[in-house]
Amino acid sequence: MNSFILLSLFATIIAGKSPRLKFVVHEPSRFHFSKPENYISMYHQEGSDTIYVGGRAMIYVLTFTDRDVRDYQIPVASDQTAIDTCKAKAAPLELECDNFITVIQKVNDTFIVCGTNAGSPRCWMLVNDTVMTDVQGAGQIASASDISPPYPSQKSITLPADGSLYSAMSSVGGSAGSIRRTFGPQKLLKTENVWLLNPQFAGAAIIPSAEKFKEEIYFFFSEFNKSARVDEEPYRARIGRICTVDEGGIRALLADSWTTFMKARVMCGAGNTQQQYNNMKQAVVLTAQDKRAGVLYGLFSNAWGRTVVCAYSIEDIDQAFSTSKLKGYSSPFMGSRPGMCVRKNPATAEGQNNIKNLGVIRYHPEIEDVIRPVGVAPLDLPTDDQITHTVADIVMAVNDEHYSVLYLGTEQGKVLKVLHTSEEVFIISQYSLFHNEGPVLNMAIDSQKGHLYVGTAMEVQRLPLADCRRYGDTCRECILSRDPYCGWDKARRKCITIPPGYNVTSGALIQNLDHSNSSVCGEAAALKLRRTSPREVVVPFNTSIFLPCPVRSFHATYRWEKDNCFKNYPCLFSGDFCVLGPVVDTPLKEGVFRCMATEDGFKVEVISFRLVNDGRPLAASLASTLGLSLLLAVATLWLH
Ligand SMILES: *[C@@H]1O[C@H](CO)[C@@H](O)[C@H](O)[C@H]1NC(C)=O
Ligand SMILES: *[C@@H]1O[C@H](CO)[C@@H](O)[C@H](O)[C@H]1NC(C)=O
Ligand SMILES: *[C@@H]1O[C@H](CO)[C@@H](O)[C@H](O)[C@H]1NC(C)=O
Ligand SMILES: *[C@@H]1O[C@H](CO)[C@@H](O)[C@H](O)[C@H]1NC(C)=O
Ligand SMILES: *[C@@H]1O[C@H](CO)[C@@H](O)[C@H](O)[C@H]1NC(C)=O
Ligand SMILES: *[C@@H]1O[C@H](CO)[C@@H](O)[C@H](O)[C@H]1NC(C)=O
Repeated sequence: MNSFILLSLFATIIAGKSPRLKFVVHEPSRFHFSKPENYISMYHQEGSDTIYVGGRAMIYVLTFTDRDVRDYQIPVASDQTAIDTCKAKAAPLELECDNFITVIQKVNDTFIVCGTNAGSPRCWMLVNDTVMTDVQGAGQIASASDISPPYPSQKSITLPADGSLYSAMSSVGGSAGSIRRTFGPQKLLKTENVWLLNPQFAGAAIIPSAEKFKEEIYFFFSEFNKSARVDEEPYRARIGRICTVDEGGIRALLADSWTTFMKARVMCGAGNTQQQYNNMKQAVVLTAQDKRAGVLYGLFSNAWGRTVVCAYSIEDIDQAFSTSKLKGYSSPFMGSRPGMCVRKNPATAEGQNNIKNLGVIRYHPEIEDVIRPVGVAPLDLPTDDQITHTVADIVMAVNDEHYSVLYLGTEQGKVLKVLHTSEEVFIISQYSLFHNEGPVLNMAIDSQKGHLYVGTAMEVQRLPLADCRRYGDTCRECILSRDPYCGWDKARRKCITIPPGYNVTSGALIQNLDHSNSSVCGEAAALKLRRTSPREVVVPFNTSIFLPCPVRSFHATYRWEKDNCFKNYPCLFSGDFCVLGPVVDTPLKEGVFRCMATEDGFKVEVISFRLVNDGRPLAASLASTLGLSLLLAVATLWLH
């Protein structure tokens, strides 16, 4: 194989992994914290413009418009005695001796807020945007320390479902960690300590079912084996599940515990290779309404802190939980399978055999089958920045099919927008959103209103999910964006957001998501002929000159060509420009130089310059100092 083929192969692989477009967002609609908030919880209700952000002894109520953000702050102070006790104990970090708001959730109509309260957690009720001392509502409430951790560095998860609140507490130091029902009209239940080995929680999701009693909740976590040897992987990624109808066992067995808890091992890595990512950091589930189908995206890291995303089919997971053997249990099951969701009725035969199954669940909650990712390996994502948070959306495209879009927040405060199809991942774009380059700590998505909320320790920012106007004014640019939210309106000749209730048969919009191919636009002939008018540059005698060409699509290849001289000049890359400069064998003489971008099999002219020599010499030093920066600056002005 010759080196040229190798090189272009390499270039293609890189191109696939990088974002196609890069946007820097300057929009003013952002909120700045007055002091850094290193832990933030978020609550957002779909269809609303308001987001509740929990910080240090404060709840920020932020209402976004397209132009600005209105904020209202609710102080939630710790008890002074709690702070004093905390400081006296010199608990993990003195910095954590404050009331970090870890839970903001609406359970039916009760707005529950819980905080660390300097090591002795407390809950409040939020009424008319003020905090009230006692939580009242339907049913009972667990101790605040089962809902909020005592320190913010201990990760916890809360999830409201059917008027009840579910809480998962990671293990820290001597505390075991648990999954509980903590609030609501149903019986408050918990996991047995032996079921979880130092769990570190990553997420939770409701898995709906057409039959209400079969509704389940999945919890995602990693278990940590403290006695693992240094050469052993201490983490194991897990999915645990329970049925929402669960009301606990009998007096003698599992009286206050789940009777439907089961857990499975989750793998993320290439096949059976050693390179596995065992520490699940965060997880998100996309499901279609009332369907037991969908996809789980898990964010994993390995021992070196490298992060990857693996995708799993909910049907595969469901199948494993309903058919796999149980670890350490080989006898046949009596009647129905242990752990399955059944309507509670001890009088029936089903109810009776459910009681017989309690012992099986108590001692054998783990299934033997291992959950493996779809496509066998982690998603092929950029590797230059670590992913810190993910959310996902399901989008109805022009062809009446659903597509998954992932939003990945990174260590450097960027957000990647990724199309995930059954065949591949395509990185639609990268947004640079923040003034300060801090890691993305939290995100919330509103599919109904079409917004993404992104928070760092310094700022909270809102982005539109459908950001079609950024893709350009041509059909080709619109189609090549491969953004499921956007289509080319043939009549209005604009890249627009697919309107709700769009009628496929009308054929008014075009889109092509499965491949980067804009032939649907029928613009091929026009593209070949399109010329830009050259900008004239007068070059003082014997001076080096640099010509900038703005890079728009990072999946295109850029070249310079000179008129009437069938010669190609490569780019000397400089940030987001393909720069043509003097190389030993290519002195830039008079003539027209054109910058050509090739993508999707088409070569398109981006910009052109006409170099005109001016007989007068100029101090060479001045030109070389000013040359590049000056020209790039001038070009930037021209292009905006
Ligand atoms: C909250 O506001 C409503 C309507 O303004 C009022 O009726 C209610 O009494 C308020 N509740 C509290 C606890 O202040
Ligand atoms: C929650 O609200 C729904 C409808 O408003 C109601 O039917 C249900 O009983 C409520 N559940 C609880 C636990 O209060
Ligand atoms: C933890 O690691 C030790 C050492 O390898 C091993 O003996 C033990 O079985 C592991 N514990 C679990 C629960 O896997
Ligand atoms: C969709 O458009 C087609 C053709 O224009 C029309 O026949 C059909 O009634 C429309 N369907 C709906 C649901 O509006
Ligand atoms: C032009 O540049 C070359 C190389 O830098 C130098 O040797 C030569 O003296 C210059 N000529 C003039 C007229 O400045
Ligand atoms: C784009 O699609 C058209 C029609 O399906 C096909 O003829 C063409 O070869 C494709 N172009 C590329 C670059 O794949």
